[in-house]
Amino acid sequence: MSSSSASERSASALDVAALPWSSEQLETSNPELETLKRHVAEGLRRPQKTLSSMYFYDDEGSRLFQLIMALPEYYPTRTEFKLFTQHQSALATALRPAVAQEPFFLLELGAGDGLKTKILLRHLLDTEADFTYVPVDISGAALDGLAASLRDELPALRVEPIVADYSEALRLMAARPGRKVVLFLGSNIGNFLPADRLTFLRNLAAPLSLNDRLLIGFDLQKDPRIIRAAYDDAQGVTAAFNLNLLKRLNRDLGADFDLAHWQHYTDYDPLAGTVRSFLVSSRAQAVHVTALNQTFPFAAWETIHTENSYKFTGPQIKALAAEAELSVTEFFTDEQDYFADVVLRPLQ
Ligand code: AVI
Repeated sequence: MSSSSASERSASALDVAALPWSSEQLETSNPELETLKRHVAEGLRRPQKTLSSMYFYDDEGSRLFQLIMALPEYYPTRTEFKLFTQHQSALATALRPAVAQEPFFLLELGAGDGLKTKILLRHLLDTEADFTYVPVDISGAALDGLAASLRDELPALRVEPIVADYSEALRLMAARPGRKVVLFLGSNIGNFLPADRLTFLRNLAAPLSLNDRLLIGFDLQKDPRIIRAAYDDAQGVTAAFNLNLLKRLNRDLGADFDLAHWQHYTDYDPLAGTVRSFLVSSRAQAVHVTALNQTFPFAAWETIHTENSYKFTGPQIKALAAEAELSVTEFFTDEQDYFADVVLRPLQ
């Protein structure tokens, strides 16, 4: 996932404080803050309290996620990087048009620092592919950073960043002639609930034509202890990442979560293939959220569910593709079968 989005940043208390408006005006003129408020109010009213993992990625959350990706226990990033290094030539062949000179677009959804993608970009440039790299993110700042590093490292690369949400970017690009290759890496697909995952894939597939391709990263089911450790590292970085959500609510919504009485808890259920992460209230307490003008009671050891990270099997990926009217053309894995980068094409 990429670093914090522009819309998330604009909802921060710092920005709010800088605006010369009254708080009443502010409430009706900051749609991101309104959405956050609605989600928090709905989530904390449920019998199983919930906060969405999409709110992890403020500036501090994005910084912590960078640290997570480098942790010894967090194998997905490292594994996908190795997979890209080992299979760069076969990946490029599977993605680029059969006719070597045919121009194409390589779109990347949520490009982040583009570390893995640079392996593929370099290979395509070295083999004289005629293509344009189109990183897509709702954060202009994230894309500026990536574009600057690409100018430095790969000056021959054509880059056309798009600051938009994914479906808007795909719609814009669908009108352009030439193959579109859409990358969605890093097992971000695993953070969707099953119904949302299918809707997301169908929306990705809808504007694509038979000639286009998708490359999606899936984290695979493996020794449950290895998966569990990836989400409960010894240094406590993942714990800080999860707890940062409460800091964000304290800052952005004037909540009074006392972090001394909240714990990170995570578990992997091998039957469901899901890591579920929680924030656990270590005592009975009440939390007031000023922006909602509401107090939420928590029993001792009550949990707030914050994230799902689904892990997949090969047959599940094929079945998911078929449901989204896509077919698997190539299935790349590392030698331990920890992670898969899957090439898909529309069925019709
Ligand atoms: C962004 N996403 C793919 C990460 C994952 O593995 O689910 C987020 C994460 N949560 C805890 N550690 C990493």
